[in-house]
Amino acid sequence: MSDLPESPAPAQPAKDVPISTREALRHGTRLLREVVPLRWKAIALTLLCVVGVSGFTGALANSTKLVVDDVFGAGHQGAALRVALIIIGVAIGKSFFQYFTEVMNVVLKRSVSVGYQKQLFATVIRQELGFFSNQHAATQMVMVQMLGQSAGQAVVDVCNRMTVEILTLLALFTVMVLQDPVLALFACLCVPPILWLVSRLSQRIRTLATTDAGLAAMFFSVGSEVLRGIKTVKSFQLERKSVARFNTAMEALEERGLQFARVTASTVPIIEFLGGLMIGSFVVLASWLIASTDRTAGEFTAFLTAFLMAYKPAERLSAVWVEVQKSLMFVRQMYGQLDRAPQEKPYGTRTLDGAAPSVTLTDVSFSYGEGAPALRDVSLSIAPGERIAVVGRSGAGKSTLIDILQRFYDPQQGQVALGGIDLRELSREGLHDAVALISQDVFLFDGSLAENIAHGHPGASRAQLERAARIAQLDSLIARLPDGLDSPVGPNGSALSGGQRQRLSIARGVAKQAKVYIFDEITSALDGANERAVMAALVSELKDATLIFVTHRASTLAYVDRVLVLADGQVAGFNVADRLMQECPAFRALFQVPEDPQG
Ligand SMILES: Nc1ncnc2c1ncn2[C@@H]1O[C@H](COP(=O)(O)OP(=O)(O)OP(=O)(O)O)[C@@H](O)[C@H]1O
Ligand SMILES: [Mg+2]
Repeated sequence: MSDLPESPAPAQPAKDVPISTREALRHGTRLLREVVPLRWKAIALTLLCVVGVSGFTGALANSTKLVVDDVFGAGHQGAALRVALIIIGVAIGKSFFQYFTEVMNVVLKRSVSVGYQKQLFATVIRQELGFFSNQHAATQMVMVQMLGQSAGQAVVDVCNRMTVEILTLLALFTVMVLQDPVLALFACLCVPPILWLVSRLSQRIRTLATTDAGLAAMFFSVGSEVLRGIKTVKSFQLERKSVARFNTAMEALEERGLQFARVTASTVPIIEFLGGLMIGSFVVLASWLIASTDRTAGEFTAFLTAFLMAYKPAERLSAVWVEVQKSLMFVRQMYGQLDRAPQEKPYGTRTLDGAAPSVTLTDVSFSYGEGAPALRDVSLSIAPGERIAVVGRSGAGKSTLIDILQRFYDPQQGQVALGGIDLRELSREGLHDAVALISQDVFLFDGSLAENIAHGHPGASRAQLERAARIAQLDSLIARLPDGLDSPVGPNGSALSGGQRQRLSIARGVAKQAKVYIFDEITSALDGANERAVMAALVSELKDATLIFVTHRASTLAYVDRVLVLADGQVAGFNVADRLMQECPAFRALFQVPEDPQG
């Protein structure tokens, strides 16, 4: 069968292969192709600001010629005020555009990051169950956050930070050419060594970035795992060990940060050295040129100022280029995640109408991966509106059976049908509206009791919520709480007792108004009186639905019509409890009270 429950490869925290230049270009252009149409206004505004900044920077360098030739050289008093006003005007113009460049930087980065973070989260949540069992939730979230941010960073780096430096360099180079083409040509000698240096550093950054995301994810997964299990940590005195594990992760992260900083900063001394060398040569050349030709000191000053001013942009450009390599590594990883075909099974289009459906399994076999089958040739039929219990030893396949009923997994063999319709023909809504699972692992959302119950039935009236709470025997708790049904339950219900949380999850399930209810060990945390009250209420209030109780408790058997006994993934019996006690050894082994050895 094509739609086996193959578990997709987990999202790797980091790819091991450094990105090649071609790949970097491919991902970079794809990013721009996607972002530009959506954010063209912000990008256009950014480019406008960037052009303004670089233009005014060039003008500022050029204006030093006026200072030297018109003011100092000519000794003209009136010119001083004019030149001063020009310089102030140019500086104000530059600062105006610089301010908006910075603002646009933040705006663009934020909007691009958030957009991709939303897409990433939507991709993660659409994955099938196998994907999540291999990954820490914290790791997943770190990846969503980091990868999205890197996309924003890459866009800003390219559209803003790199462009501004390139245009500024061009403007300053124009000033240099205008003032002295020969010296300008000579200055170009700086370029090849800088290019060589930057390409070498880029290589180094790409290698470092391969494991960077993995380290950041480790920081969160170690931390959140320890905090989530804080009671276990304390009770087993694992504090020291936990702190040591966390410290190791932190130190690796810190070391990686240092390595990045060292590589990025190593452009600075080399560019400074090259610059110094050039300036020294210029002074010698210029003194000769001024003496032997009609060149003015002002021209040379403007040239030198432009060259000096080109320092910073050149330095920043090389640093940004090196950083872009890192961002693009993550962009590659982001596209890896986004392009992962959602491992969703195909759904049909049919829905279940009318009353409670029958549940039929025909020759169903299922195994997780390569292991022994968890279910083998299971055939059974549950009548519409019937109440059954599913019993069996631990590992017999009870949870697997109910997962299959909800299509969390598709069996490799056989057929499962609700109301005579193969599950694969039902639409996603059709299936999940019809079947309600009240799980053994209680999961509650941070919010009020009412909000949690309403997750079972969005838009439920107050009366419907109260009815669900009553069936789950929550009314006495609600009466005691100051805000009643609107009292908060805390993160994952931390303000409630184990039994209260379990009853709240029952109320949420009951509110759903499904046609088939599956209760997985729901009374395990309830006391005897509560259990009887809950069971009696469920049976009388949900009499129109098909009810399946997975249970280890003999007391539950009194509320059901028939009992399904599973043993080693096979049906060992399916009958009323009394008959099973006579005929089914597996059932007797589970529930027969041993005779009192005292007599
Ligand atoms: N995600 C999984 N991956 C691999 N094997 C699994 C997985 N879940 C369950 N199994 C195996 O499948 C078999 C049936 O497990 P299942 O959880 O259905 O048992 P169960 O009857 O619900 O047990 P319990 O009463 O302890 O909850 C077991 O052998 C178990 O080890
Ligand atoms: Mg189970």
